[in-house]
Amino acid sequence: MYLEFYGLKENPFNVTSDPGFLYLSDTHKEALDHLVYGIKERKGFIEITGEIGAGKTTVCRALLNYLDENTRTSIIFNSSLPESQLLEAILLDFGITPRRRSKGAFLRELNGFLLEQLSEGNNAVLIVDEAQNLRNPTLETVRMLSNLETEKEKLLQIILVGQPQLREKLDSPELLQLRQRISVRFHIKALKREELRKYIEHRLTVAGYSGDIIFNDEAIDLIARYSGGIPRVINVVCDKSLLLGFVRETALIGRSIIQRSIEELRGNYSLAAA
Ligand SMILES: Nc1ncnc2c1ncn2[C@@H]1O[C@H](COP(=O)(O)OP(=O)(O)OP(=O)(O)O)[C@@H](O)[C@H]1O
Ligand SMILES: [Mg+2]
Repeated sequence: MYLEFYGLKENPFNVTSDPGFLYLSDTHKEALDHLVYGIKERKGFIEITGEIGAGKTTVCRALLNYLDENTRTSIIFNSSLPESQLLEAILLDFGITPRRRSKGAFLRELNGFLLEQLSEGNNAVLIVDEAQNLRNPTLETVRMLSNLETEKEKLLQIILVGQPQLREKLDSPELLQLRQRISVRFHIKALKREELRKYIEHRLTVAGYSGDIIFNDEAIDLIARYSGGIPRVINVVCDKSLLLGFVRETALIGRSIIQRSIEELRGNYSLAAA
């Protein structure tokens, strides 16, 4: 709606997890570094946590650009699938169409695939997003997948990505065997104020903006306080603010526009009263 007014090619503050908009803040870079390290070193289990909207899915999607062609990946975004369907989804995402549809057959096919990858000098990675939703029996099956190994190395690197409840879940006594196997873990943190400013600028630039700074210092302070440095919340406020700026015909987003946007997000105002 406001794209033309600001000279933007696309919406800078969409809430999809588009890796094309990735801003490598310290915490997102560290998350990627941990992932790449864990995969290359064949560490088996890797756990990535972060608050809601902190950028976990974005990091998973971006990770694919950091892996070489010898690394085969399977990404599961729907972690609430029943066990057997989850195994099938894993196979399909590795590019294998199972010949028979049973849990045992899926496991055999997976094992065969992993051994084949090893013989070709390849590495295999399973990424499970929203892993806090995995039921305990499914987590147990996932743990068993990690038993596929040679004497020297893990055939499958398994990345569990989830909200902080994932950590609590893995702390339960019945998942002790799995927890002990996690050798790399990282928690994605909120953006610091200075990073938040750069994050906003980065997204504007990727969206094609080439003008002067839109958000002034006061605006950044207010966004930092309201969002707690969580990217998805930052996006929602910024999107509202650009819309409000467009309504007011100004490209300078300052205190009053941010305040009004936040009020509106809290449900206290409507844009009609802008
Ligand atoms: N480092 C980043 N660079 C650019 N955009 C980001 C970054 N981190 C998060 N975002 C943006 O913030 C929004 C939320 O990110 P994402 O969906 O990855 O969060 P999440 O942690 O997976 O959330 P949830 O807990 O709901 O699954 C998306 O629009 C995403 O593009
Ligand atoms: Mg997510």
